[in-house]
Amino acid sequence: MAPKRHRPECYHSVVSTRPRPGRFITFEGLDGCGKSTQIEKLAKVFGPQGISLVVTREPGGTAAGEKIRHILLDTSTSALSPMAELALMFASRAQHISEVIQPALAEGYVVLCDRFTDSTEAYQGGGRKLGSKTVLVLHQILCGDLRPELTILMDSDVAASVERARRRNTTQAGKNGRGRSDENRFEQESRAFFGRVRQKYLEIAAREPQRVVVVDARGTPAETHAQIVEIVRRKLKLAAKTA
Ligand code: TYD
Repeated sequence: MAPKRHRPECYHSVVSTRPRPGRFITFEGLDGCGKSTQIEKLAKVFGPQGISLVVTREPGGTAAGEKIRHILLDTSTSALSPMAELALMFASRAQHISEVIQPALAEGYVVLCDRFTDSTEAYQGGGRKLGSKTVLVLHQILCGDLRPELTILMDSDVAASVERARRRNTTQAGKNGRGRSDENRFEQESRAFFGRVRQKYLEIAAREPQRVVVVDARGTPAETHAQIVEIVRRKLKLAAKTA
């Protein structure tokens, strides 16, 4: 894959360009747990060390995926059925895998992805009560069962995270300059919904301890960052220092 400039419509950016075997790392957690900040900080540590990074996110990550994201997160999208929501999450993901993730992995990039199928299992499977099985079957069919080799699950307090996400979405103009003032559809869900999401995340971590590392995200961003750098460094077998 040729080095690309940041494409804001796709939200994937190649931070540096030295090829290595592809590695797929995902970040998960409740809304407002601080994932985006941590991914940005991590990219600032590893990018300058000559590691080829693609930073991307779901839903979204491609031009089509960003349109789907808008439907999914916009508060004006009312009465979306849980199954339609599930289908759209997977539509975005299938496109993202074929257009961004697989090509990047094939060319040796380290892909840092903000949310992946664990989000669907936690939010649609747990939060919307559609169950894990449905999500995992769809993942197998639509995503070729692609699995990250490492997932950082940022565990945080339900009330504090959701409060932070709500504040952020109503006061911030945007992540990387893109408006997210109306990306509130999920933040309007109940405390019970997010309780189920967190419970499902912890279930996934207990089921797949080799892949999923739970990080306590209730500390300061710097403390969380130090933990994440160490975990990723060990996984990638790199000698990275914290920023
Ligand atoms: P986003 O702004 O990316 O998350 P965060 O608030 O953590 O920065 O919002 C994505 C929203 O979509 C978030 O509420 C979780 C939800 N979501 C699902 O419900 N299922 C999924 O499969 C994915 C990828 C996201």
